[in-house]
Amino acid sequence: MRIIRAKDYDDMSRKAAHIIAAQVILKPDCVLGLATGGTPVGTYKQLVEWYDQGELDFSEVTSVNLDEYRGLPREHPESYWSFMHRNLFDHVNIDPAAINLPDGTNMDAAAECARYDEVIRRVGGVDLQLLGIGHDGHIGFNEPSDAFDLGTHCVDLKPETIEANKRFFDGNVDLVPKQAYTMGTRTILQARKVLMVVNGKAKAEIVKKSFFGPVTPEVPASILQMHPDFVLVGDEEALSLI
Ligand code: PGA
Repeated sequence: MRIIRAKDYDDMSRKAAHIIAAQVILKPDCVLGLATGGTPVGTYKQLVEWYDQGELDFSEVTSVNLDEYRGLPREHPESYWSFMHRNLFDHVNIDPAAINLPDGTNMDAAAECARYDEVIRRVGGVDLQLLGIGHDGHIGFNEPSDAFDLGTHCVDLKPETIEANKRFFDGNVDLVPKQAYTMGTRTILQARKVLMVVNGKAKAEIVKKSFFGPVTPEVPASILQMHPDFVLVGDEEALSLI
């Protein structure tokens, strides 16, 4: 595990973007595992800026996203499909046919999860997986549980996650989808490189628990301690307890 200390959110975003940019430059046809949430927004903004300056070319990149709300159509502004287009895909030259997310409108969970695992297998696995971390240690939508999940599966979101995400749904918990399809912990661990971005005081405790405490499915991110190429980029506040 490598920990990179950033001064603040902008510095964290730039450092993370440098690592992703290096991946794209070293292997133009790489598979990027991408994440949603508030934390990676600045990282995507920086990548778009470098793309605009002619520094980056996404034409051969394939993307696979971590997760998607079950039941939300792509066109919904809070679907992760919309989020990724708004923050990255609409602004760079990635091939639309090379963009992959779980299909939230396929209500046949078993079929959709199997399809998505097959997509990840077909593209040859993930070269670099970008992650945020939830306040409870979740990665993707792998919530605390008594066992690590393996491949893509359907999860019931924890009340705290629904509460944390209501800010994207007019502050109304009733509008937040209650289930999601998520890549499993095994798939995340199989990524050749894992890059986590984290910022803010509110995440300091979970960062300490995840990376300096026992490896346990009660803290899903803790399994990353076992990953041979895991990089954590955090701002001063998020890393203040370690
Ligand atoms: P956040 O979400 O970046 O919006 O804090 C992180 C996560 O839940 O993975």
